[in-house]
Amino acid sequence: MYFIGEEEQQAVLEVVKSGGLCRYGPAESKVTAFENGITEKFNVEYALATNGGTSSLIVALYAAGIGLGDEVIVSAYTWIATPASVVIANSVPVIAEIDNSLTIDPNDIEAKITPRTKAIIPVHMIGVPSNMEAIKTIAEKHNLMVIEDCAQAIGAGFKGARLGTHGDIGCFSLQQSKIITTGEGGIVITNNEELHDRARMIHDGGNLWGISKHTSAFFPGMNFRMDEVRGAIASVQLTRLDGFIENMRIRKHKLREAIADVDGIELRKIHDESGDASTTMVFFLPTPDLARKFGEVMGKYGVPAGAMYTHGNGDKHVYPGWDYILQKKTYHPNGLPYTYPAYGDIQYSDRMCPKTLDYLGRAICIGIGHEMSDETIDKVANAIRSAAKDTL
Ligand SMILES: Cc1ncc(COP(=O)(O)O)c(C=O)c1O
Repeated sequence: MYFIGEEEQQAVLEVVKSGGLCRYGPAESKVTAFENGITEKFNVEYALATNGGTSSLIVALYAAGIGLGDEVIVSAYTWIATPASVVIANSVPVIAEIDNSLTIDPNDIEAKITPRTKAIIPVHMIGVPSNMEAIKTIAEKHNLMVIEDCAQAIGAGFKGARLGTHGDIGCFSLQQSKIITTGEGGIVITNNEELHDRARMIHDGGNLWGISKHTSAFFPGMNFRMDEVRGAIASVQLTRLDGFIENMRIRKHKLREAIADVDGIELRKIHDESGDASTTMVFFLPTPDLARKFGEVMGKYGVPAGAMYTHGNGDKHVYPGWDYILQKKTYHPNGLPYTYPAYGDIQYSDRMCPKTLDYLGRAICIGIGHEMSDETIDKVANAIRSAAKDTL
């Protein structure tokens, strides 16, 4: 759904002609300008641009001081990068169910807390906010960090504040399939100066370019910096963000209106409709079998569709597809973090979150583009109506 226009081309040309491709070259860095644009738009104190969403999660986990012996609760429905980054931070992901919002189920978070739990990663999947109120209440009660994975919901909100500003740290991806893009890229935001300084150190070889109260915590870092070409594109894309979301909202509203009279399907719960980025419309059928048939009929009407999960499909957005996590594979033969004795016997199985598989097995997802035409909306609505008539 990405859109790159004339302004992005001009911005790239300007950087390339200037010869300052690294953020530390030019007097006025494009990356810094982008970070300032984020703090302003998101009403947040600190923003750090990175080279990817996965890098952003790793940076956030390291900044939060998560490591060996710790557990991090992650949603069973998220791209594999979320649990992978937890393992890369030397800690163990604990997989929690989603509910009918397709975001993490607060009840299951509570059920999965142990003395080792240090953080929760709610993931605002396919444009929709997690229940941040309930998650924050649990986190405060148990003294846990909240790291929001906003990779698929940049610009979306919850109860009046943008996603990424509700927890301790917010992580974003600017990879090409996201709402705004630099091809690859990411952002880490926080209101906590120490977390921000630690994030800067980790993302930049441990160096801290500037003076900080937190320099005593110096430690080795990686290099996840964003470059100037991407910084320049990112700033232009940021100016488009709210327009994209507004256009998708209008289109989603039209589609919902057009199918309002269809019985037998249940729309995905959305914790705050006004915060929905509206990149998708999801509805549930009563059974996985009906979802499969429903999708087939929609296909006959020219709108390819199918259940969001079928067993064995290997989709790495749903935990059974997280092969190297479920098999506890790591880069080193010592098997850490999984073999660290404090964890005891860690058990994963592809059936461990049955509610998640049930919801996704009965769900059909329609993508909403910001340029979706009225004809396409009619075609999709007609396919849904026809499938309901034929199958329900
Ligand atoms: C929910 C989620 N988390 C993390 C990532 C990782 O982002 P990236 O591909 O930029 O590393 C993605 C996207 O790919 C994602 O969808």
